[in-house]
Amino acid sequence: MAHQRVLLAVTGGIAAYKIPELVRALRAEGHTVRCAMTPAATRFVSPLVLQTLSGQAVRSELFDPAEEGEIDHIALADWADAVVVAPATANVLARMAHGLADDLVTTLLLATRAPVLVAPAMNVNMWDHAATRANVELLRARGVAFVGPEAGWLACGWEGEGRMASPADIAEATLQVMGPRSLQGETVLVTAGGTREPVDAVRALTNRSSGKMGYAVAREAARRGARVVLISGPSALETPGGVERVDVESAVEMRDAVFKALPDATVVVMTAAVADFRPAQAAARKIKKEDLAEEEGLTLELVRNPDILASLAEQPGERVVVGFAAESHDVVEAARRKIERKRCDLLVANDVSRAGAGFDSDTNAVWFVWPGGDVEELPLLSKAEVAGRILDRVEKLREERG
Ligand SMILES: Cc1cc2nc3c(=O)[nH]c(=O)nc-3n(C[C@H](O)[C@H](O)[C@H](O)COP(=O)(O)O)c2cc1C
Repeated sequence: MAHQRVLLAVTGGIAAYKIPELVRALRAEGHTVRCAMTPAATRFVSPLVLQTLSGQAVRSELFDPAEEGEIDHIALADWADAVVVAPATANVLARMAHGLADDLVTTLLLATRAPVLVAPAMNVNMWDHAATRANVELLRARGVAFVGPEAGWLACGWEGEGRMASPADIAEATLQVMGPRSLQGETVLVTAGGTREPVDAVRALTNRSSGKMGYAVAREAARRGARVVLISGPSALETPGGVERVDVESAVEMRDAVFKALPDATVVVMTAAVADFRPAQAAARKIKKEDLAEEEGLTLELVRNPDILASLAEQPGERVVVGFAAESHDVVEAARRKIERKRCDLLVANDVSRAGAGFDSDTNAVWFVWPGGDVEELPLLSKAEVAGRILDRVEKLREERG
């Protein structure tokens, strides 16, 4: 995925002031970035800034002999692995929709065969205008990908939809349009994070899961073109771009959310660390030590939580189910027993006691345990790489099952 060539077409909206940050985000992913600007865009952000940050000459004129001599516009259109239009004005959307080629940017957009991603940014009334709506529909129907706009306060003083997606989300969406699309058409349901089981109004039982593994799976599945539903326990992580996130707290809430999303899911990856037990009774008010006798302890009665992974095997429908097992000892043997009980297609076992693996770590050391007991040991990898290996296996299983 690294070293892709991104042509960033900048048009004349106020959000152009965020484009230097986008250039940096794209370069941080390892891409080579070249910028082309409309004349209006140069009024909002300096070509010199974009040239300095991209490390490449910036073009803004179609008919300038010096610019055209450096790299001609057709060569530039051919050079790109993806074209990103950010910010995309109402004006450029109209010109793209109608096939105009009256400046460098629109000529490049007509000439390129690379996937095109647009990040619209404009006043809410411009975005809602029937002309813009029709142009957006036309472009979508032609396969142009969109990221944003988002709702919120706009620079023009209005509140509503029209704010450009964040540079991080645009960089993520760029990876998605250049991705292998090998999970296109699939709906991937991912659970992530730990659950939080209420004890009283202020306390809860939880675990140390950060959600990093599940978020990495969700991000990678979206990059491969899947529709992704991420059901997350409390987590500080940002939702990966293009992923639909459902927030839950307890195991029971997680089960309900999983069952609601299940009918559409063709792949389920259950990375969440779901609490096995919850307090039998959650007190509505805070339990105060003053209400207990001096030196008296507190005994909590715990009841079992639903086993979400095991219950999936009983659900109708054809889908690939991947489970996770976090173990602190006898990892492989425990995982072999678990896959028999849970009847999933693949169990990913990890040793949470090992340094550099398990909870809150950016790396993970896992074993793939297959039905029947076959085991594959993976080296210490980043969680993003582990996510990729899991989805490679999922794709193979989907293929084998036609
Ligand atoms: C201060 C200012 C801010 C503007 N912001 C936007 C904007 O956010 N989105 C938009 O579609 N047009 C915006 N415009 C209008 C465009 O600059 C104008 O339509 C221009 O023709 C766009 O040219 P281009 O699409 O070739 O870049 C703004 C204009 C001004 C003067």
